[in-house]
Formats: sequence, C-alpha cells, structure tokens
Amino acid sequence: MKHFINLKDISSKDLRKILSDAKKRKKKRNSLNTLEIDRGSPLKGKLLVQMFEKSSLRTRLSFYLAIKQLGGGTLTLRANELHLGSGGETLEDTAKILSTYGDGFMLRTDKDKKLENFKKFLKIPVINGLSPSSHPTQVLSDIFTVEEIKKKPISKMNIAWVGDSNNVLNSLIAASIKFNFQLSIGCPKKYYPNKSILNWVKSFNKKINIFDNAEKAVFKADVIFSDKVISLNDKVNKKKKLNDFKNFRITKKLIKKAKTDCIFLHCLPRGSEVEEEVFFSKQSKVWQQALNRVHVQKSILLYCFGKLR
Ligand code: CP
Ligand code: NVA
Repeated sequence: MKHFINLKDISSKDLRKILSDAKKRKKKRNSLNTLEIDRGSPLKGKLLVQMFEKSSLRTRLSFYLAIKQLGGGTLTLRANELHLGSGGETLEDTAKILSTYGDGFMLRTDKDKKLENFKKFLKIPVINGLSPSSHPTQVLSDIFTVEEIKKKPISKMNIAWVGDSNNVLNSLIAASIKFNFQLSIGCPKKYYPNKSILNWVKSFNKKINIFDNAEKAVFKADVIFSDKVISLNDKVNKKKKLNDFKNFRITKKLIKKAKTDCIFLHCLPRGSEVEEEVFFSKQSKVWQQALNRVHVQKSILLYCFGKLR
C-alpha cells in the first residue's frame, strides 16, 4: 500500500511507471464505453471513499470513472455531513472507520496537516485531491498530456507557468525536479513561490527561472500553463490581487513570444487570466488535459493499491 500525497515524496521511477501504465491503459480503451471495465478488472470490489472540503467538478468525476473502469466503486462524502469537525468525532476515529469500510481514501482539503493526520491513522492509502500546498494528481496528469501531445519526453521541453504561486505551481515545481525539465515562472514579485520550495529545488542543484514579466517567462516555451489568480477559499483582497496580475494574462500577443507550436494548458476552472481567443484556440488543449485525469488517476490508484504492472 502506498499513499499519494506529494510528488516530492514519490520517486521519479514510480512516477514514470504510473505514466507508462496510463499510456498503455488509455490505448487499450479505444473501443470501450465510459463505464466498461478494463480487462482483468484489477480493482474489482474495491471502494474508494472521496471526501471534499472544497468544490470540485473534474477531480470528483475523474476519480469516479477511474475506479469504476478498474472494476471498483466510489462513495463521495461531503465533509460537513460527517461527525468529524463540528460533531466532535476525532480524526483518528474517523480514519479507523474509513479503513473499516473502504479500501482507499481521496481527500480534497483546506489543511495540509489533515492529509498527514489521515495518513497516520488510516490503514488504507490516502490520495491528495488538492490541498493548499499541492495538487499532485493534476500535475502528474498534465505531464502525461504534455508528452502525449508533443510526443517526446518533457525533459526536452521548456515549460512556462504564468500566474499565481499556488498549489498547482508547487506541484509543477516538484515535477520539474522529478522529470528534469526547464521551468520558467512569470508572476508579480510579491507573489513569487515561497522560499521553502525554492530551497528544496536548490538542494538538487537545479535552477528555476522566475521573472516579474510574463513575456520573459514564455520566451521560446513549448508549453504555457496558467491557473486562476484567485484559488478556492483564497482569503485575499480579490480586486487588488486581480489588479496585481493584470500584466500576466495569457493573451494572443503573449503566446507569440513562445514557440510557434506552443500549447496552452489550464487545470480549470478558469477565471479572467486567459483570453477567450487563446482558451478556444487550436493551441489550447484543456479538454484533452481534463480527460487525461481519468487515465492517469487509474494508474495512481493501481500504484496505491500495489497493483501497478
Ligand atoms: N482541476 C481540478 O482539480 O478541477 P476541480 O476543482 O473541478 O476538481
Ligand atoms: N489553484 C486552484 C486549482 C483548482 C483546481 C485552486 O486551488 O483553487
């Protein structure tokens, strides 16, 4: 049994194995319908419990499909319907009950500490479905999408991020070490990534380029990533933050600074950080990106259940 909490804590070899399993599985599903089960039904009879403390569309649906296609099933809980929290039941007791009824636990939470606490008390794998500090299932799936479209290893590409230093970016930074790719970040100085993640990068003798300028960040990029300026439950002065990012929008003009075959990715949901003309352009691969969550999360589940081939 393995947990999937942060890309930083998973070996490059295991992450690669997950991606190559996903590639094989995706190919084999060409002629199958949405709810048809993969040959061999590798997670037959397994129950994945999902709990959301924040809104979700894609993560919820893609995990539902992922476990279904492997022969198992899912139950989705809303945090405020449990005794945990306002009802006074402890996290330890909750974790023990989850381990009694379920086989895996996917948590989207507002507190990183909660993932660690669940990990401590659960006897089943825990998967991070987004926390304040990371969004590892999203980013691993995005690496898959980039390599699928570009047909070459991400280590041979220039990856650019234009936007806030948030959970998705933290996971992308972790991925840049695990998959050894060039990462350039464009965001206002005041929103640069925090020191601890940059020090972690430094400990690998690796450099990430950070610019207070979007054009410099996307120069000769193969891929441009962006995300909402205001994240879920972001307790900031929204108007002010949006204004701080006014020169960091993904526009047609900006994309021209990147390579001509550059693609645009966004985990969604989107805000005003990307121009509609870009979002609905041929270079935008956001729908393919969203669908790939299913394929990659299947292999993440197999990794967690110790069933990765
Ligand atoms: N990208 C993503 O995680 O989407 P949801 O918030 O809808 O799950
Ligand atoms: N950074 C965003 C990602 C949403 C999927 C957020 O945390 O809201």
